[in-house]
Amino acid sequence: MKVDVLLGLQWGDEGKGKVVDVLTPGYDVISRFQGGPNAGHTLEFEGQKFVLRSIPSGIFQGDKINVIGNGVVLDPALFKEEIEALEKSGHALTERLKISKKAHLILPTHRLLDQAYESAKGTGKIGTTGKGIGPTYTDKVSRNGLRVGDILHNFDEKYKAAINRHLDILKHYNVEYDLPALEKSWFAGIEKLKEFEFIDSEHFINNALKNEKKVLAEGAQGTMLDIDFGSYPFVTSSNTVCAGACTGLGVAPRNIGDVYGIFKAYCTRVGSGPFPTELFDEDGDLMRKIGFEFGSVTGRPRRCGWIDLVALKYAIMINGATQLIMMKGDVLDSFDTIKACVAYRIDGEEVEDFPFDLNDGAEPIYVELPGWRTDLSTIKTEDEFPEELNAYLDFLEQELQVPIKIVSVGPDREQTVFRHEN
Ligand code: GDP
Ligand code: IMO
Ligand code: MG
Repeated sequence: MKVDVLLGLQWGDEGKGKVVDVLTPGYDVISRFQGGPNAGHTLEFEGQKFVLRSIPSGIFQGDKINVIGNGVVLDPALFKEEIEALEKSGHALTERLKISKKAHLILPTHRLLDQAYESAKGTGKIGTTGKGIGPTYTDKVSRNGLRVGDILHNFDEKYKAAINRHLDILKHYNVEYDLPALEKSWFAGIEKLKEFEFIDSEHFINNALKNEKKVLAEGAQGTMLDIDFGSYPFVTSSNTVCAGACTGLGVAPRNIGDVYGIFKAYCTRVGSGPFPTELFDEDGDLMRKIGFEFGSVTGRPRRCGWIDLVALKYAIMINGATQLIMMKGDVLDSFDTIKACVAYRIDGEEVEDFPFDLNDGAEPIYVELPGWRTDLSTIKTEDEFPEELNAYLDFLEQELQVPIKIVSVGPDREQTVFRHEN
């Protein structure tokens, strides 16, 4: 068996959580492979709504095993909050959620460092989620990190050494903090973590494959936020692309199966950084209002714009996407015209390949298509799609050269239309 991977092709918040939940009945194991509580994955079903941050989105569909992989960074305090909220609504996970011993821990001081580095950047700030993601991955790569498995071996000593190192750095910055208060909730989180099984997740996942189990890897963030291929430096600190599933779970490249690339019918971004198709007019406001485009972690309004096929083709190339999933088609229901960016104009030249650096500005070149002006949200099958929506999907498939297998027409689990089924 192979691992299928579901990941975002844009700047995050494409709707990964919703689709992982929809696909979960077809899998035995669902696993997160990178990122941390910077993610906010929203799921809606039976009139309920959940936002998951570190926990995979496969927990609501039967007794599937969910795994937090080695590539993830985990904040015990936020993990405890997340688990307790789920327990309150009747979802006990201790038997079904397993955590890699190799996942790195976000320490209380990592969050302070995130804050310190951001304010030191002034106007060049990344606009991070403030969850300590960058500093934790920095410590991982510089070989100073603490891992979940360390909790069981001389933990106090390792913790103190790490904290002292961070406090030394923080002396150079103007950050106010109450460390004992932060530590109180952090150590309570460590106790909560201990209720779960810490596993050698690379063995667990590979054994699952050997035993003919179906494994789905769930990405966080999106390709354009990837540390190597995103709009650097306005990116997150992990490999959000398909290769990240190999390193973040311990899966060999030849054991990757389908790669589901997920995108919105338009485009959004939170935080700073280039966004060529961004709209500053009433169309952008309408997308934000209808699509309820506000960050699920920070509540920040998401920047909105038209779909960017230059970036999308690049993302499909890097990930080797085998199937596409288009989200939030319903948000464009009331638009007379829909635009799609097919090239950029940079220094007077037309560019179709995603360039090294977008920071100096790229002017989008658009193709215009007629809107469908139909309520998509109640549509159940492909046969009911309006002609203009089919034309938009055909146009995208022609441009992207990968089939669009699912079209999402609303936030609920049920508002999902499968295409090309026969
Ligand atoms: P993720 O981070 O990729 O899981 O995406 P988020 O959950 O952060 O953001 C997606 C938002 O869009 C959530 O509020 C979802 O409930 C919502 N959503 C998902 N699919 C659709 C859809 O097809 N239509 C609409 N209107 N909302 C959707
Ligand atoms: P999901 O999984 C959208 C953005 C932040 C910031 C940049 C770096 O819900 O799609 P970080 O805190 O990671 O150091 O911030 O990345 N960002 C996201 N944007 N969705 C996310 O996750 C994001 N996670 C981080 O806004 O611009
Ligand atoms: Mg999100």
